[in-house]
Amino acid sequence: MKPTLTIRGFDVFRGYLDAAKQREIVGNLRSVIRTAPLFSPETRWGKKMSVQMTSAGKYGWFSDRRGYRYEEHHPNGGAWPPIPEAILRVWHEVSGLERAPDCCLLNLYRASAKMGMHQDRDEADFSWPVVSISLGDDGLFRIANEERGGKTESIWLQSGDVVVMGGKARLHHHGIDRIRSGTSTLLQNGGRINLTMRVVD
Ligand code: SIN
Ligand code: MN
Repeated sequence: MKPTLTIRGFDVFRGYLDAAKQREIVGNLRSVIRTAPLFSPETRWGKKMSVQMTSAGKYGWFSDRRGYRYEEHHPNGGAWPPIPEAILRVWHEVSGLERAPDCCLLNLYRASAKMGMHQDRDEADFSWPVVSISLGDDGLFRIANEERGGKTESIWLQSGDVVVMGGKARLHHHGIDRIRSGTSTLLQNGGRINLTMRVVD
């Protein structure tokens, strides 16, 4: 399958999920959140992140003053729920990989939330891609370079868009500058959900 566009090596599949699929996935995520409630982690500098997050899969991504890492348990001590089938299907379809991801990180952005520029580098092997699914309100996604600084390019990600961050672009810095509130009615209380699937081990 061909991406709609490639920007800085990130393959963007516009409108990959139709409205019915998006609703199915949001339904699945409700049960994920029931088992593994959303929390707002601290950065390693002790500042609360503006996104709320949780995970599904063998590992969940976690952050506190000790740093960024994957954990086998939710902060409440329970295991992370399994990654829903409909989400795994997207991973296999767009990546073409047989291997399943170990983690699906869920980030919830309410109106004023954002995500600073960062690299996804807490995984053991960067030859596996990261696959991202956007649901709900539009989010302004900024893509930079592997090294810090330099020119950047931005794109509004919309509900149903899928992005594959792999190959040479796997370690490119990226972040979310802002959310455009009220651009989608998919999520009951508004906002944006981003799912990223990763191979961790
Ligand atoms: C992330 O990089 O973890 C999130 C990206 C996004 O929200 O689209
Ligand atoms: Mn990231």
